[in-house]
Amino acid sequence: MEAKKRKIILDVDTGSDDALAIMAALLSPELEIVGICTVNGNRPVEFTTENTLRVLELMKQDIPVIRGCATPIVATLDPLRKMRQRSNDGVNAEGEKVTYHAEYLPLPPATKKPLPGTNAVCWYIDTLMNAKENLNLVLTGPLTYFALAYRAEPDIVKNVDEIIIMSGGHDQRNSTAASEYNVFIDPEATAVVLDCGVKITMMTLDSTHKANMRPKHMEIFRSWKNPVGDFVAEEIEARLKAYNTMQPLHEPDIAPIHDALCILYMLDPTVVTKIRHLRCDVVCGGIADGQTLFDTRHFNDAPRNVYACLDTDEEKFATMLVEILSRSKGL
Ligand code: BDR
Ligand code: CA
Repeated sequence: MEAKKRKIILDVDTGSDDALAIMAALLSPELEIVGICTVNGNRPVEFTTENTLRVLELMKQDIPVIRGCATPIVATLDPLRKMRQRSNDGVNAEGEKVTYHAEYLPLPPATKKPLPGTNAVCWYIDTLMNAKENLNLVLTGPLTYFALAYRAEPDIVKNVDEIIIMSGGHDQRNSTAASEYNVFIDPEATAVVLDCGVKITMMTLDSTHKANMRPKHMEIFRSWKNPVGDFVAEEIEARLKAYNTMQPLHEPDIAPIHDALCILYMLDPTVVTKIRHLRCDVVCGGIADGQTLFDTRHFNDAPRNVYACLDTDEEKFATMLVEILSRSKGL
């Protein structure tokens, strides 16, 4: 008998690594994607929406895409926050332009449009309030509109089993000395979501900096000589160059595919090798703006609200991702 599929909603700011996460989810028969909501993040929401639609067309899939918020809840009201925002773009030593996330993914323009007459906040409320069975949420961008939907209708969480987010960092950060990008863009939204009372599993940068693709993987994808393989190879190459130039990690020539770790974790939780159940609060404002502050005191009595994923089996991640994406060869 076929195992029951887990129904998921994806929230994305596509985004090169979001694209690979969407593809991995589409290619996993264990999962059924109910809808994909887009948000302002790696690029403005017009781009992240169009990019999401492009990925779906590459994968020959027709799943509702629902456009979400164009700005964070309040973060842009503070000019200092805006000043600290990192750029996606740089120039490497060879004078070549590099970027973590191009405005448009290098795919044909989408022929489909996002779902008309709604937005992600309303869609979330309608979908979750009327769900016949429980859903899982995989949130790989800033948490703006899930926070707004929850504020508008707190009962939406009654039909949610688990929320899996790419968010935050314990020892690792990227946007500022204190914060990870998705939290940095909308710290207040993150704070709301972390206390919504549902089981939250958080892929921190500590785990996603081990969720890497390398040049050898890029070659595998390129050897397929098909549109999916070419696209994945191109995105990995762009990320390798961007990380080498703007954010060298613990070793050169690695490209973290942060968001895909959320999906691979759903398929096989052992891909993550260190998880701690902790209290996590978000610092909103000040010098540590956007920090996910984990309380590691064993004697604390504040309610623990996240399962923080802090390390990854790097080999397993890479093997799984290549295998899952290879299922696209027939497309
Ligand atoms: C996160 O920020 C974005 O740039 C990526 O898509 C990922 O979700 C990593 O900090
Ligand atoms: Ca993302």
